[in-house]
Amino acid sequence: MILGTGRAVPKRVLTNFDLEKMVDTTDEWIRERTGIERRYIADEKDTTSGLCAEAGRAALQAAQIPAEKIDAIVLATVTGDVTFPSTACYVQEILGAENAAAFDIAAACTGFIYGLSLADSLIASGKAQHVLVIGGEMLSRITDWTDRATCVLFGDAAGAAVLGPSDGKRGLIDTFMKSDGRLAHLLCMPGGGTKVPADVALAERLMFLKMEGREVFKHAVTAMGDAAEHILAKNNLTGDDIHLLIPHQANMRIINATAKRVGMPLEKVYVNVQDYGNTSAASIPIAIDEALENGRLKSGDRCLLVAFGGGFTWGSVIVQF
Ligand code: ACO
Repeated sequence: MILGTGRAVPKRVLTNFDLEKMVDTTDEWIRERTGIERRYIADEKDTTSGLCAEAGRAALQAAQIPAEKIDAIVLATVTGDVTFPSTACYVQEILGAENAAAFDIAAACTGFIYGLSLADSLIASGKAQHVLVIGGEMLSRITDWTDRATCVLFGDAAGAAVLGPSDGKRGLIDTFMKSDGRLAHLLCMPGGGTKVPADVALAERLMFLKMEGREVFKHAVTAMGDAAEHILAKNNLTGDDIHLLIPHQANMRIINATAKRVGMPLEKVYVNVQDYGNTSAASIPIAIDEALENGRLKSGDRCLLVAFGGGFTWGSVIVQF
């Protein structure tokens, strides 16, 4: 079960009006096509590990679990501090979680869903008692700020949750994960790995996120709907049995389509894409943390989480709070 949550954002806010001064775009276009109004952007001193540790510390405080009691830190990111070691190891050091195994998972925007699923399995198998799951990204660092088709979409942030054994009433009811590597090329950062090393990638501007927006959109709508429907059907539930749908916050049109597929009115859907943009793995834990804080999620509520991202990856979780 989720024992506590936390979130962290950089200080600087970049509005659509700021972007109008940087590329050929308008506030109207961005709001109509995506729902985004503003996003947080890291400054030079910020790090992914720093943001993740801040969110993780808040989650530990909310859960009232000391860092030494964490058995594993599972950190979902595609914008880690360095290629290796894992950003989770830096977070472990910052938090003083000296008894944990720490590692990263790369599932892009679905990362937090994958992380929850993994944490749930570790706890269910008895391999861990307390797991800190973090989703954190600094997408601004891999954004091409001259490309209006992508630079208006993303933001930097981190969100976290401490998981522990279920108390019999509350907990993760089910999790679902899926991928399709045949579509990897539609959303990726082509350079900087072993295939196109950093020096070559730099010269060819391949160190930036590349996306076929229209194709990604089509697949996102289908896969998020499928993931939501699949997990509901498997558990003999419908949208009526869910108190709150928390979809990955990428685009208002994708969120609307997902809600429609499971027959849920927008009043039962959590939306904060206007304030953060697409923060990839951070978007779902941030939404959960906000919803708990502002009363949209209460103890006893059943919540459906759904995400889609690069890979392609997609997945869903039903959780009883
Ligand atoms: N400002 C103004 N015009 C723009 C901008 C911009 N920022 N970006 C693109 N345009 C133009 C295009 O050049 C194009 O012009 P043209 O018709 O003269 O060629 C026109 O707007 C339409 O472009 P499309 O790409 O067809 O616009 P679309 O309606 O598909 O919206 C968007 C683009 C918002 C990127 C959409 O495809 C999308 O949301 N895709 C999914 C992206 C996403 O969320 N990816 C993140 C990872 S996956 C996930 O998180 C779900």
